[in-house]
Amino acid sequence: MARSALLNVMVQAALKAGKSLSRDFGEVQNLQVSVKGPGDFVSQADLKAEKIVHDELMKARPTYDFLGEEGGEEKGSDGAHRWIVDPLDGTTNFLHGIPQFAVSIALERNGEIVAGVIFNPATDELYTAERGSGAFLNDRRIRVAARKQITDCVVSCGVPHLGRGNHGKFLVELRHAMGEVAGIRRFGAASLDLAYVAAGRLDGFWEAELAPWDMAAGLVLIREAGGFVSDMKGGQDILGTGSVVAGNEYIQKALSEVINRPIPGR
Ligand code: IPD
Ligand code: CA
Ligand code: CA
Repeated sequence: MARSALLNVMVQAALKAGKSLSRDFGEVQNLQVSVKGPGDFVSQADLKAEKIVHDELMKARPTYDFLGEEGGEEKGSDGAHRWIVDPLDGTTNFLHGIPQFAVSIALERNGEIVAGVIFNPATDELYTAERGSGAFLNDRRIRVAARKQITDCVVSCGVPHLGRGNHGKFLVELRHAMGEVAGIRRFGAASLDLAYVAAGRLDGFWEAELAPWDMAAGLVLIREAGGFVSDMKGGQDILGTGSVVAGNEYIQKALSEVINRPIPGR
């Protein structure tokens, strides 16, 4: 499997940040039992990982824009390219010692995502995709699952929580999905949910109120794995609306229809 020079830069940045997160994850597991807890330590781990990714990417392409969850937007002189980075997706999992978290790096060119890398250092799973070149898990080519009936499908979602999201709207979506699918999961790292759809582990995924860095890399992975993505209204303004529905060509449509059903009697 041949990777472009740019994808290689992204992979090296993700692996390096992943190594740092991995070390800190070991310490988090010790801090669980301390009275103070691992909160501050995790914020530091997150910032450290973003600095590593930032420095690696900007060393290779100093003129590109950089959008990172922690540091915000940095404008470069290039005008056409932007890195979109979540140095630690799945922070709550990381904080609780749950090994479901990832470094997520995307490259946007003229408003389109053209490459993505998602790395979970706890499982050593590296997902990569470049537009037109397919999607990979480590060195293996991946494809979305082939199921056509939503009743056979396992899908995941995001669940809004204390102080976040529209709880009432989500409960309606969940109520409708519950009645149609074979299983629903909530893993807690949106980038990995999207990667799992690309790898055919999950048949579908939906979530609202996400940020661009949660989704950007996952979108190119799913498309390159033969899957489909839309925002929750069925359009393509996924990064703008912060909402996403993913699956193969049948399930993406079916899941969109299910979660958008109105409440009966209204
Ligand atoms: C969060 C995760 C989670 C999703 C949240 C995101 P973070 O990102 O992706 O799965 O439900 O909406 O904010 O805060 O762990 O980087
Ligand atoms: Ca995130
Ligand atoms: Ca994050």
